[in-house]
Amino acid sequence: AFVVTDNCIKCKYTDCVEVCPVDCFYEGPNFLVIHPDECIDCALCEPECPAQAIFSEDEVPAGQEQFIELNAELAQVWTNISERKDPLPDAEEWDGVENKIAHLER
Ligand code: SF4
Ligand code: F3S
Repeated sequence: AFVVTDNCIKCKYTDCVEVCPVDCFYEGPNFLVIHPDECIDCALCEPECPAQAIFSEDEVPAGQEQFIELNAELAQVWTNISERKDPLPDAEEWDGVENKIAHLER
């Protein structure tokens, strides 16, 4: 499956959800996740993310492995999203800030 990682937090551009053929993105207050059992590994979402936050689970950057489990966990409780919406208001300022997981809202 593909995995949404740290740099999505507080940005949430949502370009990714528009291209997913199986609508397997789930939305929380300031982050999105991919449901690992629904993702068909098509890779279409990866290049769409302006924050480059999406990786194949085999290619998740070192130090961000916890996001594999986090996507699986939160996809079970968050709401499905399949239509693009405006990014969060301070998305540009937060894009590229490291370790945003401290700001994750559930
Ligand atoms: Fe959806 Fe394909 Fe991305 Fe998986 S890899 S989340 S199926 S767009
Ligand atoms: Fe997040 Fe990138 Fe999608 S910032 S909402 S993974 S387009």
